[in-house]
Amino acid sequence: MHESTIIWNDNQIPISRYFDDVYFNTDGAVDETRYVFIEGNCLYDRFLQHQQETFTIGETGFGSGLSFLITWQTFKQFRQKNPNSNLKKLNFFSVEKYPLSASEMSKIHNKVINHNDALWPLAKQLQDSLKRSDVDSLEEANLLICYDDISCFADFLVQQNSFIDAWFFDGFSPAKNPDMWNESLFKHCYQLTREKGTFATFTAAGFVRRNLINAGFNVEKRKGFGLKREMLIGQKI
Ligand SMILES: C[S@@+](CC[C@H](N)C(=O)[O-])C[C@H]1O[C@@H](n2cnc3c(N)ncnc32)[C@H](O)[C@@H]1O
Repeated sequence: MHESTIIWNDNQIPISRYFDDVYFNTDGAVDETRYVFIEGNCLYDRFLQHQQETFTIGETGFGSGLSFLITWQTFKQFRQKNPNSNLKKLNFFSVEKYPLSASEMSKIHNKVINHNDALWPLAKQLQDSLKRSDVDSLEEANLLICYDDISCFADFLVQQNSFIDAWFFDGFSPAKNPDMWNESLFKHCYQLTREKGTFATFTAAGFVRRNLINAGFNVEKRKGFGLKREMLIGQKI
């Protein structure tokens, strides 16, 4: 029997059993993810300008797949409006050491995604394909998850033979989970980033900022989502 990865607190917010940290605040989770990762990486405009056939995203921490779902939805909207673009495929490479069970994932999606939202059928499709271990069926999105520790992610990405256009750094609070935010990881990420590739993260923690700068990224602070003061974005120049 799969031991539950999530503990639901009194306010029905999902907390990781392993890190004692929230996956996200269930109120506004979709808007926050869109603000931090999609807008933080200027994804829609980047899709419009992209000349290659494939755009590749690297994410640290697959969790409930919410960031993937919103990225996939954004990509679908782009494809519908721009059917003649050279860009035809989204690669989404993520890593997850503590995968959620199917029922945990579906409970999170139920809580945070409005059933009338266009994201809802995509969430159902993702849940079904993860149950069948058949994420190849997700139309124009190629989802690949490395079910291992973050320390194995760089080698996994090298095997995919594809540079990263945009990173989503999302591995719980840096103070609670420093392994997802260290300089050596960011150095590998930098090496795997395409020129002018970008990253976005919800945190503005000082040591994360320094590690990203030491790895080579050009780092900027941006207003955080809602009441959060700051977050970080950056680029490989
Ligand atoms: C904040 S959650 C990610 C939320 C996710 N992006 C989403 O859309 O739901 C962070 C994730 O990182 C994973 N994680 C934490 N430490 C890890 C490690 N050392 N290696 C791989 N995954 C890790 C956790 O299990 C968790 O699912």
